[in-house]
Amino acid sequence: MLRHGLRTAHDALDASVSRFDLTEIDGMIAFLRVQEAALARLPMSQASGPTAAAIADLTERARADLQQRGVSCLQIESPDLSRLHPLAVDYVIGGSRLGAEVLQRRWASGRAAELGVGGQYMSAPRYIDIWRDFCASAADISGGTPLARRICGDASDLFALFETAADRSFEERQEYV
Ligand code: HEM
Repeated sequence: MLRHGLRTAHDALDASVSRFDLTEIDGMIAFLRVQEAALARLPMSQASGPTAAAIADLTERARADLQQRGVSCLQIESPDLSRLHPLAVDYVIGGSRLGAEVLQRRWASGRAAELGVGGQYMSAPRYIDIWRDFCASAADISGGTPLARRICGDASDLFALFETAADRSFEERQEYV
């Protein structure tokens, strides 16, 4: 259900975030600004304990990496995400950790990694239990139900938040030495 319903949204986000070359300093900094801006605007009150802890840790790590380079955080509007279903937050954060390994490998082979740019964020725990627990919960939800539609709708709102941050960071990207 979610995988199919959101495949297009994920692929668009993947393409959007892939505009940032994680091997280069400016690409990695622009990526960190995306992560910090979107993660900092996620409604912790709507997240399960482990997911809230992961969000707090990843936000802090991205912020610390930006501060280390003297770069300010991205300013984007905060959409009203106060009524999100917790399983939608678990899905997006848990799922994003599947891709994090791909991104970590891209980063690890480059100059940014050599200089430690993004080191805190890229050395974060895998948090794969969030995805496992989500899959276990989602297995009990049949597709096409009002709950399934709600979670799908809320997850696409979260993808849209990351997409907005990616577009803004891309517009604001600059050379960092
Ligand atoms: C360049 C950026 C990205 C890459 C290369 C990437 C890559 C991946 C990969 C390889 C998977 C596993 C696919 C599978 O097992 O079928 C995945 C799943 C997922 N990613 Fe991404 N991802 C990226 C960005 C993002 C972002 C920014 C988010 C959200 C914040 C995100 C959320 C998810 C979710 C929710 C899933 C689970 C999809 C599902 O199975 O339903 N991804 N990603």
